[in-house]
Amino acid sequence: MAAFSTVKFLMSLLIISSLSAVQCCEKITFVNSIAAASLSSTPTPEDVLPITTINGCLEPGSGLEEAVRIAIMNSSVPILYPEAVKDLAKLEVLNLDFNGIKEITPGAFQNLPSLKALTLVGNKIKMIPAGIFNGLTVSFLSLSNNSISVIDPAAFDNMPNLRTIETEFNKISTWSPSWFTNSPNIVTVSFAHNKIASLPGNAFANLKGTHELDGYPVGTAINLSNNKISMIDSLAFQGMGQIGYLDLHKNSIKMLPTHVFSSLSTVGTLILDENKLDCLSEDFLNSLPPVNYISANGNSWNCTCLDAVKSWSKMHGGIINVQIDDMNCATKKMKGILDFVQNMKDMKTKFASMKFQALENATAGGTMVP
Ligand SMILES: *[C@@H]1O[C@H](CO)[C@@H](O)[C@H](O)[C@H]1NC(C)=O
Ligand SMILES: *[C@@H]1O[C@H](CO)[C@@H](O)[C@H](O)[C@H]1NC(C)=O
Ligand SMILES: *[C@@H]1O[C@H](CO)[C@@H](O)[C@H](O)[C@H]1NC(C)=O
Ligand SMILES: *[C@@H]1O[C@H](CO)[C@@H](O)[C@H](O)[C@H]1NC(C)=O
Ligand SMILES: *[C@@H]1O[C@H](CO)[C@@H](O)[C@H](O)[C@H]1NC(C)=O
Repeated sequence: MAAFSTVKFLMSLLIISSLSAVQCCEKITFVNSIAAASLSSTPTPEDVLPITTINGCLEPGSGLEEAVRIAIMNSSVPILYPEAVKDLAKLEVLNLDFNGIKEITPGAFQNLPSLKALTLVGNKIKMIPAGIFNGLTVSFLSLSNNSISVIDPAAFDNMPNLRTIETEFNKISTWSPSWFTNSPNIVTVSFAHNKIASLPGNAFANLKGTHELDGYPVGTAINLSNNKISMIDSLAFQGMGQIGYLDLHKNSIKMLPTHVFSSLSTVGTLILDENKLDCLSEDFLNSLPPVNYISANGNSWNCTCLDAVKSWSKMHGGIINVQIDDMNCATKKMKGILDFVQNMKDMKTKFASMKFQALENATAGGTMVP
């Protein structure tokens, strides 16, 4: 009898301890979520761990303490609560794409000392408060294809290894000059396909314009294509030093402030295609620092100005590509000629019909026509 109750006691202890192994975190984030994991970041078949079902949090005890890469995808994970992922010493790549995540709570990622890449693509995240990514060791962070409209000014501070950040296809409307404080190693920033309407002064002052990668200098690339930018502060690029690649295609830029790039020592490539530029003034062109290449096709050029831009470009090694606009302009000129010809034709027709009517009138009146 005594032996039996001891066994029962031990068994209940076992049950309690196995329960606590899967529910150690404050709040349950994962419910029957399927995790694919491996023992290296570029797995060979031998490295792949068996598919694991996660209940509770991703932490030691969930069977993935040795994992270097973990992907929880196509599950339903509405909220990442504090400590959703924690204490995984070897974890380098964490992929949480397409899980319907609506919210990430500050503190969701805790003590992940090896983490290099974190992707949260294709979720339903609406806002990024501070306290989620700060202090993480990641070099790659992707938040693309969410519904993010608000990002706290401190959301990306103190990320010492961050090299690439992507937030494409969201609803971000405001660019904060405070982003990236103490995150000095960012080389690529893409906010393409958002709703940013203006670039304020010192917009990129926290970014270094150039980096050394494997012994070579690499210029910082900023992708703001497919936004709604119509206003660029004349001090927007102040404090950046230089720029490697600036993609502003498909915005609503009508004019660039004369000295907007004057503070930079060099500009690598500047993409201004498909905006509403009608002119790049001579003062603007003459105040440019050394530029490698500018593309500005598909704008609404004043043809007189375009001719001036072209001759300036010719004198500077052909650095400005406006060939398609040249055609637009030629088409405009051609259209002018065509309009003139059409007017002449119309007048001729009118004149002819008047003559015909006079003839008819005369005939109807019985007067003989010579
Ligand atoms: C998630 O779904 C996509 C598309 O159906 C598929 O390509 C991918 O392999 C899935 N991932 C996992 C981990 O199930
Ligand atoms: C992101 O959204 C765009 C536009 O809807 C789509 O073309 C693209 O394939 C999406 N990317 C991913 C990774 O789902
Ligand atoms: C900027 O992003 C858009 C959309 O993803 C892409 O098509 C374009 O190639 C990117 N530009 C650069 C310079 O990478
Ligand atoms: C086009 O530019 C020229 C010279 O820069 C200027 O004199 C003219 O008024 C402009 N035309 C229009 C329609 O803005
Ligand atoms: C022809 O006659 C009609 C009606 O009498 C008149 O309105 C019209 O002005 C005439 N046209 C010419 C060209 O004389």
